[in-house]
Formats: sequence, structure tokens, C-alpha cells
Amino acid sequence: MKISVIGCGYLGAVHAAAMADLGHDVIGIDVDAARVEVLAAGHPPFYEPGLPALLARAGASGRLRFSTDIADAAGASVHFVAVGTPQRSDGNGADLTFLNAAVDALLPHLAPGDLVVGKSTVPVGTAADLLPRIATTGASLAWNPEFLREGHAIADTLIPDRIVYGLVRPADETLLDEVYAGALAADVPKIVTDLATAELVKVAANAFLATKISFINAMAEVAEATGADVTQLADALGHDERIGRRFLGAGLGFGGGCLPKDIRAFMARADELGVDQALGFLGEVDAINNRRRDRLVDVVLEEFGGSVAGRRIAVLGLAFKPDSDDVRDSPALDVAVRLAGLGAEVTATDPQAVQTSLRRHPQLRYATCVGAAVTDAEAVLVLTEWREYRELDPAAVGMLASSKLVVDGRNCLDRDEWVAAGWRYRALGRPAAGPARVAAPALVEA
Ligand code: UDX
Repeated sequence: MKISVIGCGYLGAVHAAAMADLGHDVIGIDVDAARVEVLAAGHPPFYEPGLPALLARAGASGRLRFSTDIADAAGASVHFVAVGTPQRSDGNGADLTFLNAAVDALLPHLAPGDLVVGKSTVPVGTAADLLPRIATTGASLAWNPEFLREGHAIADTLIPDRIVYGLVRPADETLLDEVYAGALAADVPKIVTDLATAELVKVAANAFLATKISFINAMAEVAEATGADVTQLADALGHDERIGRRFLGAGLGFGGGCLPKDIRAFMARADELGVDQALGFLGEVDAINNRRRDRLVDVVLEEFGGSVAGRRIAVLGLAFKPDSDDVRDSPALDVAVRLAGLGAEVTATDPQAVQTSLRRHPQLRYATCVGAAVTDAEAVLVLTEWREYRELDPAAVGMLASSKLVVDGRNCLDRDEWVAAGWRYRALGRPAAGPARVAAPALVEA
């Protein structure tokens, strides 16, 4: 099939490459010339495991091209719209500027019988607003939300947990079935519904995931007040099949380009619809999430007797989650910045996110590897659970650091191993373990 993908950010770039890999003839369009140039050269503008190989394969097949000219979308029969819908700068709602601009630019190039397929995450009701404009061209509109996770984007695109079609014209199901023939042949469940339900599936899924994370982080707060261990609590809860262990990882909480802005946009939309009470709990989900960052900073302050001024702190992990270089609303980067703001000498590192962090926060000091970050550190903070941090050898780190204090912001380290190697271990939602720190020198002098 001839397919256009409008918007080649995370979602669009992966979608375009995956569609070409499935055998479709794809043109990816983006207004950002630099982005188009690197994609056309086969280099993703962000870190995603497997994407360089996928782009190379698709490029070599001749089935994937990129362009800044929306006129190149003409001739495709299915047009995926995958532009960003960030949080508005003046409130919680979604900023639909890019979406509206993309659809308006596409209109002159649509032909009767074409199908425009919305993939962007949007406030419920957006598709219904777009429909009359698209209908003037004789094209149709469907909503087909995307559930890809960064770090797993290719697998999530090729074989998703489910495929959702929000349709106006029943005949469009056949067209979309052709696009997704591979996944459907692999028995991926398909739900065919209306536009509003399809839009809602996406925001409801993200709201549920955010709620699940904040639920366990609320339990972490209770655990901290009682000496209980939230990781064991999560294990015990997770054995109940109705609950499940996934997304019960207590720690620094959620960040990234989706969960935080999507729950806020959902609340804003509920407000407009007069059902704000129904989603009031999402305000608490957001608040619990943000309190985890405060708590982590407090744990560090506690360990240093109330002040981190001049303290050498190593931060391992800046990305909002492992296998990503994305630092949008990253809890790890936020904590690093806050500690530096309190006067700590922070040295931060991340396997992929140093450059993206540097662009946002040039004032932080960055190291290119763990060794450089932890040398002479008085505290080591693990804030993103990259595999290479989970597997660190506490004895080796202990030889480089000047003081054996580790703060496990993701409950991802083997506590017993670190304690056995002489470390004092602090985490969120778990009791402290290991030798108590001697009072900070400044306090002894005082
Ligand atoms: C999310 C949704 O999972 C995906 O379906 C949607 O398409 C886009 O938004 P993503 O933002 O890539 O994907 O990340 P996800 O894996 O969901 O993690 C989100 C955040 O939650 C990360 O900061 C992660 O560290 C945090 N998290 C996740 C926890 O704190 N605890 C957990 O148990 C799981």
C-alpha cells in the first residue's frame, strides 16, 4: 500500500519505518528539515534500540523515503497523522497546534477515497472536530491510537497488544486490515469502534498505568512511615492475577513525553466536558508522583545532616527510563538539577541521555562513564534503572567513591549485596540498611 506518515517524531519515525518493513511504500513527512535529513540518511534523531537497523533495511528496500514537502503525501491512500500533542504552555490541556496545522496542510493533497488515520494522542472529541474538514475532500477519517513504549517501540509497533480502529465509515476497516495484515495474521486482537472510544482508549490506558505506578508509590509513603518494605508488598500484591506485578515498580515515579502530559490533558478535557469530578483522582496521581522526587531529595539531605552544599554526589541515570535518551519530564534529571540547585557538586551520567540533558541543563556537570561519575563521590544515586547500573559491582564502585552511601531511586539494586560490600543503602519505600553514616564533618565542627 502507499502510505504517508505526517510527523516523524518518536511515534511517526518508528511507524514509518515499521510500515515500510511490512512491505508498504512509505513517505515520511516532517516540517523539521534537520530531522528529515538524518532520517533519510538512516540515522534516528533519538535513541531507540533496533531502529537504526530497521531504517537501514527499509531505506535499502527503496520503500521508505522522507520529505519536508507535504505535497509528497499525494498519491498515498492512507495518511497517518502522528504529530506531537504536547502540554500547552499556559495550562494542562493538550496543544493541538501541530495537529491542526498538519491536517490543514494535508487537505489539498487528499483525494476522494483516501483515509486519514489519526495516531496522535488527543483529547476525546478532537477527531469529530477534524472530520468535517477532511470530509470536504472526499477522504475519510479513522482514529488508530498507538501504544508504543520507548525502548520497545519496534516490537510494540509490529506486534502490539491490541489494534484499535475508531471508524466513521465501516468500509475503512478493510483498508486498515490491509495495513496491519501482518499483525492481524499473528492474532493481535482488534477492536473496531467509534472515533471517541478510540481516542479514549489511549488516554484511559495511560491514565490507568500512571495510577498503578502512583498507587504503589503511595504505598511507599505508607511503608516509609511504618518501616514496611514496598518492594515486598508489590511482590505480594502482584501474585494476585487480578492486580499483576507489572507497573508496581515503586521509586522515583513516572516521567517522559506521555504519561505526565496525558493525565493532565485528560483532566483538562474532563473539565471542559463537565465531568471533572470523574477524573479528580488523576490530580492526586500527579501529586503522588511529584512527591517522590521531593522525597528522594529529602533522603539525600537527611544523610548529609540537612545540607548538601559542597557535597560530591554522583547521579547514575538521567533518562526518564532505561533504553531511552529521552529526558522530557525525567524524574532523574529533575532530582539531579534540584540537588545541584541546593549547592551539591553533582556529577551525572547516563548511557544515552547525557547529550539530551546537556541541552536542557548545561549548568550540570556530566561524566561519560560510571567510573568518572563516582570517583570521590560522597553519595551515589541510581535514578534510572539501566541494566549496567543494576549490575554494578558494589565493591568496585566502593573503591572509587569516597564514601559508601548509595541511594537506590528505582529499587533496582540488590540491597543485600551492597550492604555486604559495606555500603549504607537508602531507597524509597524501604527501610535504610547498612552502617549508619557518621555525622557530616560540618555538623561535627558545629
Ligand atoms: C507510555 C505507555 O506505556 C505507552 O503505552 C504509551 O504509548 C506511551 O506512554 P513510555 O512513556 O515509553 O510509554 O514509558 P513507560 O514504559 O510506560 O514508563 C513510563 C514511566 O513510568 C517511566 O518513567 C518509568 O520509569 C515509570 N515506571 C514504569 C515506574 O515508575 N514504575 C513502573 O512500575 C513502571
